[in-house]
Amino acid sequence: MKTIMPELTSVSEIERYTCEGCGNEVIVVEAPIIGGPNKGDLSRHKRGCLCWENEQAREAKKVQQKLKVRHMIERYSTVNPDLANACFENYQLLNPNLEKAHSMAWEYADSFLLDEPVNLLLSGMYGLGKSHLAYSICKVLSDKGFVSLFISVPKLLTIVKSTYRDDSNFTEAELLDVLSKVDFLALDDIGAEKVRKEEEGDSWATEKLFEIIDGRSGRHTLYTTNLTSDTLQRKVGPRNFSRMMMNTKVFKLEGDDYRINNKRF
Ligand SMILES: Nc1ncnc2c1ncn2[C@@H]1O[C@H](COP(=O)(O)OP(=O)(O)OP(=O)(O)O)[C@@H](O)[C@H]1O
Ligand SMILES: [Mg+2]
Ligand SMILES: [Zn+2]
Repeated sequence: MKTIMPELTSVSEIERYTCEGCGNEVIVVEAPIIGGPNKGDLSRHKRGCLCWENEQAREAKKVQQKLKVRHMIERYSTVNPDLANACFENYQLLNPNLEKAHSMAWEYADSFLLDEPVNLLLSGMYGLGKSHLAYSICKVLSDKGFVSLFISVPKLLTIVKSTYRDDSNFTEAELLDVLSKVDFLALDDIGAEKVRKEEEGDSWATEKLFEIIDGRSGRHTLYTTNLTSDTLQRKVGPRNFSRMMMNTKVFKLEGDDYRINNKRF
């Protein structure tokens, strides 16, 4: 029997005690893990301890939640094909301002610390590489093991709306929960969302942005925008703007549109 199922016989008792938490008589046993990536390693069980069982259940739930989040991120953290290969290495330092932008973005990713949240706002005209740099940061942080998400705000709001449909795989609350918890969130093109002029600063989009931005206090968020501070403030509303500016480094990119550079006709 021992040769067929060694794990059956290799459970060994480590100690016995009375748990202060649940009051039960607890037996600590050690047994080799039967399968999976950690096969053969020893794992400890506290037989009879209710606290330990609850703790295990909580851990399992956390793992489940993380898997779900990962799934959602993989599904939505897609970028347009023109950005798919964007990284720090292929960003051309076309002028001193963009060179500064590049080194500032690089430093941001390099010095990223979870418990010292700093936000970043990249502003400037079209085609200067705001999204390019934002996505580059996202990639570096993902490689470092941080949960990072890059998403355009107009697209994000469409996704939020899609959760209202009956056939949605997840609820709005679940989506907002993911957005509030990722280590790094790049909100690309904030202010580009469609809002009726008379509803600027006071629309459904404003309210959703508020939930997202407010939910991220204490975490790292990056914004990119084409708008100037005045226009952006009007567009997203003063409450959102105020939160966006808290703890936030602002950098204005300047130069020529990379998309149309050298294509004058
Ligand atoms: N300095 C650069 N070096 C290399 N590629 C660049 C540079 N600037 C922009 N690009 C490329 O040009 C395209 C447009 O850049 P990007 O999307 O980052 O601009 P943007 O500033 O976000 O513009 P918009 O305001 O229109 O969103 C992308 O494919 C990007 O990779
Ligand atoms: Mg962009
Ligand atoms: Zn206990």
